[in-house]
Order: sequence, then C-alpha cells, then structure tokens
Amino acid sequence: MNKKIIVTGGCGYIGSHTVIELIKNNFQVVIFDDLSNSSQDTIGRIESITGVRPVFEQVDLKDVNHTSQVILKHKNAFGVIHFAAHKAVGESVQKPLDYYQNNLYSLLNTLKAQHENGIQNFIFSSSATVYGNPKSLPITENNQTQRPFSPYGNTKKMAEEILEDFSKAYTDFSAISLRYFNPIGAHESGEIGELPNGIPNNLMPYITQTAAGIREKLMVFGNDYDTTDGTPIRDYIHVVDLAKAHVKALFRLIENKQEQALETFNLGTGNGFSVMEVIESFERVSGIKLNYEIVGRRPGDVPQLFAATDLAHHKLGWKAELGLDEMIDSAWRWEQKYRATTTAK
Ligand code: WQD
Repeated sequence: MNKKIIVTGGCGYIGSHTVIELIKNNFQVVIFDDLSNSSQDTIGRIESITGVRPVFEQVDLKDVNHTSQVILKHKNAFGVIHFAAHKAVGESVQKPLDYYQNNLYSLLNTLKAQHENGIQNFIFSSSATVYGNPKSLPITENNQTQRPFSPYGNTKKMAEEILEDFSKAYTDFSAISLRYFNPIGAHESGEIGELPNGIPNNLMPYITQTAAGIREKLMVFGNDYDTTDGTPIRDYIHVVDLAKAHVKALFRLIENKQEQALETFNLGTGNGFSVMEVIESFERVSGIKLNYEIVGRRPGDVPQLFAATDLAHHKLGWKAELGLDEMIDSAWRWEQKYRATTTAK
C-alpha cells in the first residue's frame, strides 16, 4: 500500500505544488487545511492536474481536540509535511499575537497528536529569514541564525528549536526542516499558483498584478544598497523545484538515512538576482513594459540573501533546475489564466 502523507496547509501555494509532486510519486495524500488563506477549489485543481483527488480534512490546527481526532483518523500515516502557518511578514509585525498563536499552536498540536498516534516523521516548512542579515554569503546551514526581523520569521526560528528538542527527547521521531529562500512561479498548467490575500507583500505577485492592471505601479523599495545595481538581491526558486525537494526529503526519511535528530537544508538555487534583474526578466519574458517607481527602503529588508546548495544536493540528491525566466514566465501565465477565470479580489 502506498505510504500516506498528511500535508497541513496543502491548499496553499507551496503545499498544493508539493501535493502534486507527492501524488506523482504515488503517495496517498491527506490535506489538512483551515482554508483561512486558501481555497478548497484547489483540491479540484489538483485533481484536474494529477487525475487523483487528495482526501481533504478541514481542520483548524489551533483546536487541540479536533487536531487529535483528525490525526487519530489518519494514524496510519507515515508522516506529516507541515506548511500550515500565516506567512505575511508585514502583517506579523502588526499582529504578533496572532502569528505566535497560529504558527506555534498549530505546530505544537500537530506534534502532540503525532506523538499520541506514533506518527514519527515530520518535514517542516521553514525560511531563510531565520538567518537574519547574514554575515557571509552564500549562506550555509551552519550560518549563525539570528533573531529574525519579524514575528513571522521568529515563529520559524522558534519552531526549529521546538523540533530539535522534540526530536532529541523522542528518539524514534525524525524531522527535517527545509529553509526556503524566495519561492516564486507556478505549475506549468496554470491551474494553481500564488494567491495572496489583498495587496501582495512579495515582489513577484506584485509585479504580475501590476502587469495585469490590478495595481497601478510597482514600488521598488530602494536602489541604494551595496549591490550591482543598488537593489536588493534574493535567491528566487521555482515553486515546483521547491516541491520536488520535499519529496526528496521524504525519501530520506523513508530510507532512514538521517544522521541527526533534526536535519536542516537550504532550498535555493545558489544564484542571486536583484529586483531590477527580476523586472528586466519579466519585461523580456512578457513583452510588457512594467510601470515602477524607485522609492525608499522597506524596513527589515537585507541587502543580499542567496543559498549555498551543496548540503541539499549531497544529502537529498536534489538541485533546483529551473531558471529565472521560467519562474517568471510561469508566474505570469498563472496570473493571466487566473484573472481570466475570476474577478480581482
Ligand atoms: C523581495 C525583494 C524587496 C515587494 C519574504 C519573507 C520570506 C519569504 C519570502 C515566506 C526585496 C523587493 C518587494 C515590492 C519591492 N516568505 N520588493 N517591491 O522580503 O526577500 O522574503 O518573502 O517564507 O520569509 O521574508 O521577499 O518578495 O517581499 O521581497 O521592491 O512591492 O523585492 O525590497 O528586496 P523577501 P519579497
């Protein structure tokens, strides 16, 4: 029987792309989602892409009793891939209590329910934001993590510390934390993609919504950084490459290759691109002249972030394959297809 995997937040952006890769690798998938920042019609979109409809459980993981009941129902699962979290950096600064409650209660309740039911494997959706402003580049997994600038980032750092303690205490429990750099793009079908609620915080959806006429212009937050063209550099990674890394991490757990209780891996391409380079790539790929204005810096932004990718390559046998133009082309196709089928929010 194919191994069952519980995917929390599986109706979300990265979760849904990962569900597709899991189904393609013959895993049985159960999605847990509270639909607070996603839509149930993603389930149908996953089915139209893969021909398989994942099981769906609507559950608020902050509800400890309901979480225990639903995990008991799926106690034969091999493991959990945990995406469920709020992730808007700016919003977390405004509403820290919401973020600590949602992101940490969800994690703790899931771990507690897994422990009660003997589900011993866990993959965690973490973020390069745990590195703060790195002292050296490219960033390796041994780079000193720092106090992240936002409550959102701090929930990720705290979660990793919780996982480390949990894995040390319960030696049969294995966990892998995947530190994402900047996920962008969408599935080639144009059926699923990033769906930010309200005004996008992140660069890519803001660019595509500007090009689609939903936003008047892109504000470029500063061009006075110590970088090639003065705009900040990030390691953008295609969401499908990112999704594939989760399957590789799962196989590492299945094959019991772990060398320590909690392993952490950077998921990036190892290449950094500036904001202006992303804009230039978008204009080249779409043929559209983007309306943008250089404005002041955004608080909390760091000049450069890009990953050392050796550890994920050697231990997971994974390397990002898709380039910036492909990421941007897929993001733009998703925006056009989504807008053509729905009204703007
Ligand atoms: C990228 C660059 C901005 C918007 C965040 C989180 C990180 C992860 C990814 C969740 C920066 C510039 C952006 C705009 C701009 N999220 N920009 N105008 O800040 O690197 O990372 O999202 O896991 O945890 O910290 O990504 O896309 O917001 O910004 O000029 O309207 O684009 O200044 O240099 P970021 P981003």
